[in-house]
Parts: sequence; C-alpha cells; structure tokens
Amino acid sequence: MIERIAHIGIAVRSIDEARRLYESLGLTVEAIEEVPAEGVRVALIPCGESAIELLEPTSEDSPVARFLERRGPGIHHLCLGSDDVMSDDASLRGAGIRVLREEPTRGAGGSRVQFVHPKSAGGVLLELSQAAADGDE
Ligand code: CO
Repeated sequence: MIERIAHIGIAVRSIDEARRLYESLGLTVEAIEEVPAEGVRVALIPCGESAIELLEPTSEDSPVARFLERRGPGIHHLCLGSDDVMSDDASLRGAGIRVLREEPTRGAGGSRVQFVHPKSAGGVLLELSQAAADGDE
C-alpha cells in the first residue's frame, strides 16, 4: 500500500552545487550514497514527511547522465513510499501497467524499489520504494 510521497528525484550535474540552495533554506543533507548499479550518487535531503533526492551521474552511460544530456537538470522522478513493494508490484502487473524491472531491486539505503514506465504513468517516471526493514543491510 502507498503511504506517502517519499521523495522527489532531481537530476543534477553536481550535488555539491545543487545542495547549496536547499541548505540555504535550512534543510540538511542527511546522507550521500553511491548506487553503482544505477551509475549515480544520491543525496537525500529530508523535507517534512518527504525528501528531495539529488541524483548526480557517476558514469556517462547511466540513465541519469542520459537524462541530463537530453533534457538538462530538472525533476527526474516521483517516488511513492510503499509498505509492501512486492504486493504493489503485483497489483501493477495485474492492472496491465508496465513496470521497468523483472522484480523489485535494491535501491539507496537498502530500500526495495520498482519503477513504472512513464508511458504508463502520464509521462512521469514513478518509483515505488519500501524502506529497508531493521536488520536489512
Ligand atoms: Co528515487
């Protein structure tokens, strides 16, 4: 079940430059993590019940690098927080909605994530994310 908007992902060329804006507003970068499988460095900036996720490419052929090339910096995806991403994944498939991965995979912070294809989501890349349970790596 979806519980909240978990974060809004923003593609940036440099986390070091982009974070200044949010820090000047009193927000704090909670964690910076590299996700090698995605070719990105991710900075999470909590904002109330949600967060802003800055995505900086670490390789030229990563999806975020291609996004920057095509469209420049800007909003990249919307992430909905789920309490059971496996179940939501099954519901999407049952409804004939196109998801990007065979099954939910590991995302930043040990979360489990799935993505809905923008063609099935009104042009929005939609991420579903279930936070890591205690004890997960
Ligand atoms: Co995200």
